[in-house]
Amino acid sequence: MTIIVTGGAGFIGSNFVFHMLKKYPDYRIICLDCLTYAGNLSTLKSVMDNPNFRFVKASITDREAVNKLFEEEHPDMVVNFAAESHVDRSIENPSVFLETNILGTQVMMDACRKYGIKRYHQVSTDEVYGDLPLDRPDLFFTEETPIHTSSPYSASKASADLLVMAYHRTFGLPVTISRCSNNYGPYHFPEKLIPLMIANALNDKPLPVYGKGENVRDWLYVEDHCKAIDLIIHKGREGEVYNIGGHNEMKNIDIVKIIVKELGKSEDLITYVADRKGHDMRYAIDPTKIHNELGWLPETKFADGIKKTIQWYLDNKEWWEEIISGEYQNYYEKMYGNRG
Ligand code: NAD
Ligand code: TYD
Repeated sequence: MTIIVTGGAGFIGSNFVFHMLKKYPDYRIICLDCLTYAGNLSTLKSVMDNPNFRFVKASITDREAVNKLFEEEHPDMVVNFAAESHVDRSIENPSVFLETNILGTQVMMDACRKYGIKRYHQVSTDEVYGDLPLDRPDLFFTEETPIHTSSPYSASKASADLLVMAYHRTFGLPVTISRCSNNYGPYHFPEKLIPLMIANALNDKPLPVYGKGENVRDWLYVEDHCKAIDLIIHKGREGEVYNIGGHNEMKNIDIVKIIVKELGKSEDLITYVADRKGHDMRYAIDPTKIHNELGWLPETKFADGIKKTIQWYLDNKEWWEEIISGEYQNYYEKMYGNRG
């Protein structure tokens, strides 16, 4: 089995590459990634010499490069993680989100049509469903929940999902889609909530909480997400959407307080800053379908996962220190410099 994993130098994609190489020693895994600010070759250091692994630096929007790769490798499957993934950046500059997330998806699926494929899997997000109110804890996102997006990021992911379903219906492309809640774990880029708070706390820098910190996210340890995708690509039904989430809803402020406590820092570091525009209140997944059909359940409890994650950032300082010492400084100054 040969699988092209796009975006495999990013957070979830790299964890998926590690999971697949370990679990299926006879599979060939090809990582296709153009190494944006969010992609790091150092993340893939441990697998670069694995004979079953190949890294190809190219964009999923580059039709010629993608076709060439298909001609060379004859993949059986494509798992498309490659995306612009940060909501705050999509508010600053939506264009690249539309190019990568929508047009890149089209290029990958066109290659699948042209050369043939056993499965095209689209890694999507619960953010395509919009948000839920804080005062209705009985409501959850199911696969039937209407698409209702808030940010340019979620609109681009929803557009891609619609295109994936259109390629299934119109061209019979064998597709699946997964929509997962917020992930956390090793190799998470330090602009996202959990790694940003860990890095700032370790450097005794202010911890910028948007608004009142009351927004709720449904956190899933990244390995559990990778295991769910593994199940879907092997056993999931073509043309189906599977929600992935672990009934682990937490307020942002509570997460930040846990991190502060674990690191033995003071809550005085917590700084409330201007809210994100169009900030979604609550995400919460109903994972009944993937549980009933594929037997998936999250294995890592948040209390354990967050400890493991913090320990990983303590043990791998050079990985994130290198990132936050470069271009990231300019981003940070722009986003947080005058936020007040
Ligand atoms: P990430 O930003 O950490 O990684 C994205 C990767 O894609 C990077 O390696 C980047 O270099 C690569 N990439 C970007 N544009 C590309 C292009 N044009 N061609 C090739 N490669 C390109 O993102 P992540 O958090 O690992 O998310 C991966 C996927 O999972 C995304 O599709 C995202 O929408 C989805 N998702 C993420 C979460 C989450 O909590 N992080 C939750 C649900 C779904
Ligand atoms: P994020 O990690 O960007 O994921 P998403 O927006 O895709 O859910 O943010 C998670 C939550 O944390 C979200 O409600 C915004 C909030 N947040 C902060 O309060 N401060 C920050 O510095 C960041 C990056 C996020």
